[in-house]
Amino acid sequence: MKLEGKHVVITGATAGIGQASAISLAKSGARITIVARNQQKIENTLATLKAATGRDDHRFVLADFSCLASVRRAAEEILSWDDKIDVLQNNAGIASSVYRETSDGYEELFAVNHLAGFLLTGLLLPLLNEGARIINVSAMIYASVKGINFDDLPATKNFDPLKGYAYSKLANILFTKELAERLKPHGVTCNVLHPGAVSTTLGAEDKGRVLTIASFLIKYFPIFFKTPEQGAATSNYLSESDDIANVTGKYFVNCKQVPLKPVGEDMEAAKRLWALSEKMTGFTYPEI
Ligand SMILES: NC(=O)c1ccc[n+]([C@@H]2O[C@H](COP(=O)([O-])OP(=O)(O)OC[C@H]3O[C@@H](n4cnc5c(N)ncnc54)[C@H](OP(=O)(O)O)[C@@H]3O)[C@@H](O)[C@H]2O)c1
Repeated sequence: MKLEGKHVVITGATAGIGQASAISLAKSGARITIVARNQQKIENTLATLKAATGRDDHRFVLADFSCLASVRRAAEEILSWDDKIDVLQNNAGIASSVYRETSDGYEELFAVNHLAGFLLTGLLLPLLNEGARIINVSAMIYASVKGINFDDLPATKNFDPLKGYAYSKLANILFTKELAERLKPHGVTCNVLHPGAVSTTLGAEDKGRVLTIASFLIKYFPIFFKTPEQGAATSNYLSESDDIANVTGKYFVNCKQVPLKPVGEDMEAAKRLWALSEKMTGFTYPEI
């Protein structure tokens, strides 16, 4: 897809993979809407986009993904622009070693990494152009769990940070699978990706053992990690390549379609997660 003049919405575009993708797609001519929570980082990113493109047509909306009301307000603001969307990248995410609940009372990893994107996408559906692409940023750790923890969701019992993160990333995949099915008749695609191990700020301020080790490795052994620009390659590929214009519901790594493990293909779990996510967000997707 030629990105010249196209409207690309990226959540979490103020750092890491999302920011690198925003810069790259803006250079290809896209108008970027940043959905993020930190005003200062937003302004810095907008200045970078302007410097990189010489254009001033990039915008932002504030949204804290740990608060569903904030996600709704952001969606309402974007809807009020009445500016059709060509690409929606659900990229914002966190890693955390401690159990925390959001203001809505949900476990934070599941809420920020899955519920917020589920809600935002549903609210923005009326703006999606035919031929639009939805891209969900997951992680290969999804395959480390046997399935969504429906019996303990949000994962309150014996919280395990790695499992909590894996559940949320599996949720990204199952959401993709079900949404892709629902959107097929409308010519909108939805795919999901693993960006690789990327040197970003993900979990950088966390003091837990696993994330401290990850930060240590990133700092002292950067050679083992992709740069944010390299990490954004698959997001960019799914946003603009003509090769995958009609491909939907698939999983990509290093710009290549890769088979999902059975846990990521479980459509019964995908439907159950969908119903649960509607209940948790208080949002029912329109009949599409
Ligand atoms: N890095 C990796 O190795 C890796 C591997 C697999 C998957 N991923 C996935 O890649 C995606 C991007 O991560 P990254 O590595 O680029 O991390 P990052 O550098 O920490 O960027 C994450 C982005 O999400 C935003 N964000 C976090 N919490 C938010 C909230 N409550 N409300 C709104 N925005 C919020 C951040 O905003 P602030 O700037 O305000 O913090 C930032 O813009 C995530 O979904 C992650 O799970 C990353």
